[in-house]
Amino acid sequence: MPETTIRKFTVGMACYGDNDGVEENNLTHLRHPYRGTDDTFLEHHLESSDPIKQFAVWMNEAIAHKGVIEANAMSLSTVSSDGKPSSRMVLLKGFNNDGFKFYTNYNSRKANEMATNANVALMFYWNTMHRSVRIEGKATKIETSNSTEYFSTRPRKSQIAAHVSIKQSYPIESRDKLLEVEKDIEKRYKGVDVPKPEYWGGYIVKPESIEFWQGQSNRMHDRLRFRKRESNENVTTNPCLREGENGWVYERLMP
Ligand SMILES: Cc1cc2nc3c(=O)[nH]c(=O)nc-3n(C[C@H](O)[C@H](O)[C@H](O)COP(=O)(O)O)c2cc1C
Repeated sequence: MPETTIRKFTVGMACYGDNDGVEENNLTHLRHPYRGTDDTFLEHHLESSDPIKQFAVWMNEAIAHKGVIEANAMSLSTVSSDGKPSSRMVLLKGFNNDGFKFYTNYNSRKANEMATNANVALMFYWNTMHRSVRIEGKATKIETSNSTEYFSTRPRKSQIAAHVSIKQSYPIESRDKLLEVEKDIEKRYKGVDVPKPEYWGGYIVKPESIEFWQGQSNRMHDRLRFRKRESNENVTTNPCLREGENGWVYERLMP
């Protein structure tokens, strides 16, 4: 079967042509260098043994890093009531000791899943820095007043779009249909502020574990995972466990 080379990828033509089958597209040659062995992330490199403060350090470095376009973009994984996971990207809009905040539509698939199972996972990947952060915890809705306040700061077009997407993730017949509804909403709120739809708002994820990952070219990656100390754990008798601040402990994980 003929093959087409797209940049460095070799892609089976069946993906693009009208052949029946799809060839296996081999990507085993893709290998990007990460950090060198003299550029490690060791325990003494932590600027804080409170993972929220350490996250603030990495987030600020990611925001300042030229190669990172949207440092606050993260994947959010939820689990359905029948145990099936799903992931999507959302934007982190704030964090503090209480957790990590994002905004969405309370009628969406993610919202339905979080309503039956509050356990979620967040993940950041700042590829040009060879860093990733994994967070696991429980999501709860934030105060409506907090969502209303944030909604009022959004661009008007985004506010209108929130009214158009009344049931995010449900099928709609065409883009034209969406544009029709958009026009109606624009007419409805002509000359006045666009109110927050009642089905739109924020969540906060209270973290139970936070892992800082920094990649090495030789795959001997650095991984420091913080978690809440369990009642029977003792840092003096467990050589893997280190004392953190504010009830956290941390440990190095095998790469
Ligand atoms: C970079 C990026 C950022 C996004 N940010 C958000 C967000 O903050 N809130 C949101 O509801 N959807 C956001 N989306 C869209 C979601 O990924 C997703 O399509 C939508 O929320 C529906 O997901 P669901 O059907 O699983 O609920 C973003 C998508 C991308 C690629």
